This record gives sequence, C-alpha cells and structure tokens, in this order.
Amino acid sequence: PLPAAFQQPLKLPPVLAPTRTDATTDYYEITQKAAELDILPGARTTAWTYGGTFPGPTIVSKSGRRTVVRHTNELPRPVVVHLHGGHTPHDADGYPGDEILPAGGKPTMVMGGHPMPGKPVMGRRDYAYPMNQRAATLWYHDHRMGFTGASVWRGLAGFHLVHDDEEERLPLPRGDRDLPLMIADRSFDADGSFLYPSIDRTLEHMPGVHATHMNGVLGDVILVNGVPWPVHRVERLRYRLRLLNASNARNYRIALDPPPPGGKGMVQIGSDGGLLAAPIAHEGLDVAPAERFDVVVDFARYRPGTRVRLVNLLGSGRTREIMAFDVASSGRTPRDDSAVPARLSRVRVLDPAKAAVRRTFVLQQKSGRWRINGHEYEPGRPLARPKLGRLELWRFVTDFHHPIHLHLDAFQVVSRNGHGLGPSDHGWKDTMDLRPAEAAEVAVRFTDYAGNFVFHCHNLEHEDMAMMADFATE
Ligand code: C2O
Ligand code: CU
Repeated sequence: PLPAAFQQPLKLPPVLAPTRTDATTDYYEITQKAAELDILPGARTTAWTYGGTFPGPTIVSKSGRRTVVRHTNELPRPVVVHLHGGHTPHDADGYPGDEILPAGGKPTMVMGGHPMPGKPVMGRRDYAYPMNQRAATLWYHDHRMGFTGASVWRGLAGFHLVHDDEEERLPLPRGDRDLPLMIADRSFDADGSFLYPSIDRTLEHMPGVHATHMNGVLGDVILVNGVPWPVHRVERLRYRLRLLNASNARNYRIALDPPPPGGKGMVQIGSDGGLLAAPIAHEGLDVAPAERFDVVVDFARYRPGTRVRLVNLLGSGRTREIMAFDVASSGRTPRDDSAVPARLSRVRVLDPAKAAVRRTFVLQQKSGRWRINGHEYEPGRPLARPKLGRLELWRFVTDFHHPIHLHLDAFQVVSRNGHGLGPSDHGWKDTMDLRPAEAAEVAVRFTDYAGNFVFHCHNLEHEDMAMMADFATE
C-alpha cells in the first residue's frame, strides 16, 4: 500500500566528516553497499547506498580546498562515481568506463562485446577534486555505462555542497534554514523493493529498459531526501531550499500551494552553477532531471499555522504532491536575521558573438535508440574536440524532452528557439531542459583539463540507451 502524504518528517542526509585533513586537502571515505532502509511504512527496502543512507551523506567543500573521496565498492556490480557540476580532471570525472569493480567482478561490456574504454580498478578508487569552482549545489551519483538509471533508482545519489567567501558574506538563511531537498520519484514492489523495468535483471549485459519505458521511467511515489511526501515544520522565517531533481525522467513544475499573499513566493538565488547575479521571484519553476534551483521562501508571508505544500503542477493525483511545510502556529513572529540582497554575485556574461566555434547537436530517437547527430554512444569516439579556454556556441536541436548535461564546465543559455532566455535559464547551468521540437544555444568555455569527457541527456533511460557522446578537450 502506498504511504499517506505528509505523515513522515523530512530527513536531512548526514553531513560526512572528513577522515583526515591537511593544509590543502580534506579526505573522505564512502563505502558503497546494500542497506535495508525504512522508506515505506511496514516494509523494508533494500537500497544501494553511499555509506548506508539514501540520499548518501552530504559532502561539504570549501572552494579552493582539494577534496579527495575514497569510494570502496561492496556492491555486487561495478560502479562509477560522477560529481555532477564538478570542474574536475578526466581521471576524477567518473567517465563511464572508469569502473570500480567489485571483488572478482569483470568490467561492463559494451554492445558488440568489448570492454568499455577506460581504466577499471578493483575494489576502490580515490576521486581527487581540485574544487577550483564557485559555491554551488552539486551532487554525486552513479555513472556506470549503460546502467546509470538502474543504479541511481536504487539509491546511488547524494549532495556535495561547495561554499565560498563571496557566498558566506551574504546574509542568506543558513544552518537549519538551509535545506538540501533531493526530489526523486520511485516505484516499489509489493514487498517494498524498488521496482525498475531493466531489460536485464542481473544488470550485467544488456543496458536499458523495456521498450514501453523507452521515454523514461516514472515512479508513483515522490520521495524528498528518501522520505515519501514528507512534512517539515518551519518558523515564520526565510528558508533556503536547494531543490534538486534527482528523478530518472520526471519533470516538475514546482510551486507553493497556497502561494503567499501577493504571489511569487519562490525567490531564486542560484542555479546549477551557483549564485545568480540578482534574485528572481517566481510563481513556479520548471525543474528537469539533474537541474538545481536554489530558492528562498519567506514563510513569514503566511499566517501562523498554514500548511504550505510544495506541489508539482505537471503531476496528477498523488504525483502532484511533493512535500509540505507546516508554518509554526505561535502568534509571536521571531526576528529574521537573514535577507536576500538585491546583488548576489558577480556573474560574467559570456558574449556569444565572441564564440570561435559553433557546433550543432541533434538529439533524436531512431530505430528504438536515442542518438546524438545520428550516433549511438561510441565511447572513445569524440563528437567534438574543443580547445581549452576558447569560447564555443553549442546548438542543440531536439525531437523530445531532453535535459542535456555537459561535464567539465558550466555554460550559459543564450537562446531558446531564437528568443531570449526562459524563466529557468538564468545563471550558470550544467543541465538545460530542451523541450520537444526546440532548438537552443548555449555558450561554453572549457577550461583547465584536457581529456575525454561526456555530454548526454540526463533522462537516465535516454542516457543508458545511448544518448551520450564524448568530447575531447585539448
Ligand atoms: Cu549527472 Cu553525466 O551526469
Ligand atoms: Cu533525453
């Protein structure tokens, strides 16, 4: 039986303590293992976890301090860890072939029966992140070739927050009023186990899902930080909500219900790549898989005792609900020491007219496979060779909803269908939702790290079913 909404309290993922720190670096350790979780009332769910929890523990980095995460694989399958939004060298990026094999495990074969190009290692891998990047809400998740959808669905996802001085100087809500919220839909079998329609139940040979799920797998239970439709008690104060859509394929139009008097209750302060130049007030926000929106909600705009629901206007019935905030009912309004300044950050705008190179990528389904420029993913065969430091204009043309994601560097959206930015396109982005029959342009400059990286659709079923390509920076 499905759990009732707004019964269970919101949980916050534990913050991971470093095992060691020195002058330049913080060291962390995570063991990936199966764990029994209480997600549904009266049932146990076996999840694949980072360190025993779903979401995994939150890693908190300071910009400029190197962060090394040692991942040990005690799961029965190969894993790959990608820091989504990380500005990382190739060898730490979680290239799909750079697997961590379980004891006695073999590397994943690609279609045609050869192993993925890459450097598989046995048992564990150290991911060294330079963290030369601005404050932002990043997340880490599995990126195994062909099986990312199945692995993330089972629980392999967590937050990685980056702070910097510029952000710390701002009077934004902090502490227990800075809430990372991982929104993810899932389905469950009658025994409480995660239900996912893999073609290959062993997750060994054949990637992807059955043809009926080709467009992407949707769940009928909405989890926030691993809790179905949680409720959280808030004071009549400002809160910072770091919204992450960690769903495999579900799109959300997130709104507050009821909206506060006067409307526009979601004040966006950041996007995938960190703070915006200036806040933008929204009535609702379209959030595609992997996108992050950092918003401030001032619950003082509500009467004491109001239940404010976070809803998905694209959902129906139970999938229309996400979570609820119960505004404190005491008459006294506490003093709020936080504020949303009119200037948040310096964001240098990339000038598309200065782009040295223009490229076009067509995202399209053909003969039951998702393709980029007509190709299924061919690891090791880059579709582009960008020069480091040079500004490029990438144009994406699509047939269907595709949240396109670039590794290595964030980009800025330049246009959609020849018009200016859409309401969710502001600031530095690493994932952009393309809508059916849209063409959009983004300006991007890859920097610092030469090597092979991927860009792909972040609908995880599209990704697993070949909508991915390499690009090689040089
Ligand atoms: Cu969040 Cu290549 O992925
Ligand atoms: Cu797609």
